[in-house]
Amino acid sequence: MDYKKGHYKVKDLKLANEGRKLIAWAESRMPVLMALREKYRKTKPLKDYRIAGCLHVTKETAVLVKTFVEAGAQVSWSGCNPLSTNDAAAAALAADGVSIFAWHGMSVKEFYWCIEETLKIHPNLTLDDGADLIFTIHNKHPEFAKKYVIGGTEETTTGVHRLRAMARDGALKYPVVAVNDAETKWDFDNVYGTGQSTLDGILRATSILLAGKNFVVAGYGHCGKGVAMLARGLGANVIITEVKSTAALKATLDGMRVMKMDEAAKIGDVFVTATGVKDIIVDRHFRMMKEGAIVCNTGHYDCEVNLNHLGKLAKSVKEIRPNNELYTLKNGKQIYILAKGRLVNLAAAEGHPSEVMDMSFANQFMSQLRLAEIHKHGKRLENKVYDIPVEQDQEIARVKLATMGLKIDKLTSEQKKYMDDYSAGT
Ligand SMILES: NC(=O)c1ccc[n+]([C@@H]2O[C@H](COP(=O)([O-])OP(=O)(O)OC[C@H]3O[C@@H](n4cnc5c(N)ncnc54)[C@H](O)[C@@H]3O)[C@@H](O)[C@H]2O)c1
Repeated sequence: MDYKKGHYKVKDLKLANEGRKLIAWAESRMPVLMALREKYRKTKPLKDYRIAGCLHVTKETAVLVKTFVEAGAQVSWSGCNPLSTNDAAAAALAADGVSIFAWHGMSVKEFYWCIEETLKIHPNLTLDDGADLIFTIHNKHPEFAKKYVIGGTEETTTGVHRLRAMARDGALKYPVVAVNDAETKWDFDNVYGTGQSTLDGILRATSILLAGKNFVVAGYGHCGKGVAMLARGLGANVIITEVKSTAALKATLDGMRVMKMDEAAKIGDVFVTATGVKDIIVDRHFRMMKEGAIVCNTGHYDCEVNLNHLGKLAKSVKEIRPNNELYTLKNGKQIYILAKGRLVNLAAAEGHPSEVMDMSFANQFMSQLRLAEIHKHGKRLENKVYDIPVEQDQEIARVKLATMGLKIDKLTSEQKKYMDDYSAGT
């Protein structure tokens, strides 16, 4: 194999020291993952395993990568979005001997080149955020699934969605654990992490006052709810658009205004898409928007806001500050697009806070370890998408609470008996 340990391509290795400081800061906020690092540092249970990862290169991801390395794994890594890499964190990993291929602002062609480079390690475990690595293996190197890979893990909603569709069609060639769907991931990372970091990205790119603004959030799922909650906390009038009646009902009872995008488009000052679905904002919406509307996306791919449509309506595009482009339409109207319609929280801010990634990445680490343990016992899971075990979720939450100095009650044996007692009435 033409894999060379420590081979890398990053923006500038001189940023390594800055990156190490960022990583140390993240480590100080990620006690659950650090406890796992300490637990497995000596026994090195991943010693014979090669992990290829494709997930946003942030300071928190660097903590995860370093934890894999401490547990004995060989790791190769690429970012899962052209605009989300923190170049300092990438440089620190490269300087410390990790095979990493990631830099901020890469082209789509370079993005796939990086994935190909990581695959030279011939991984037996894969770790994805959006499933691009898994798709590359399935489409370009299907033999890897039989020869090397024993399983993978998937970090985000969009990736899990597509992998479940592949499994349904019998197209999935190896088992994948849906880390996204863990309670300690989906209900925290997507809600509080995306919520806070999306607002952070919008504010860094615009520095506008949010109080009093009509703030439109498309999608009231996990991410949308977090974004809406934080925007309301800053005094915005939040409007929700949805396609699922129960989600729309929850938004209404949570005190949000619910309407169709065709109505919201006319009154919104700021728009955030958080659906995982394409074409949420298209040409007719841009035509309806007010002068000076600000539009961004926090869903996984950059297809939620249709920039091809906007490009056709525009006579000029000009960057007015980092991650903020002014589109002047042929009729003179001005619309601002943040982070080129890519994940605004990662492109314009630093992604999710470390405290929340602590739980998501503890789930990633434990899920990769579990796949390796199953393999060590001479077994292999079927080619399906698996939920993480309930016990893993509870254990991560328990440790997280303990690190926060919080204690909770325990069910007594009488209470347990009471719950199961179907002979009892009033
Ligand atoms: N920004 C980040 O860092 C980050 C973090 C986690 C997840 N994500 C991504 O965010 C997206 C949403 O994830 P989630 O966990 O909230 O998913 P979710 O399934 O919990 O919520 C998505 C919601 O969007 C709604 N929706 C679908 N189509 C719609 C449409 N046409 N108009 C309005 N609403 C529509 C759905 O009904 C659902 O309620 C995914 O792409 C996911 O991968 C991003």
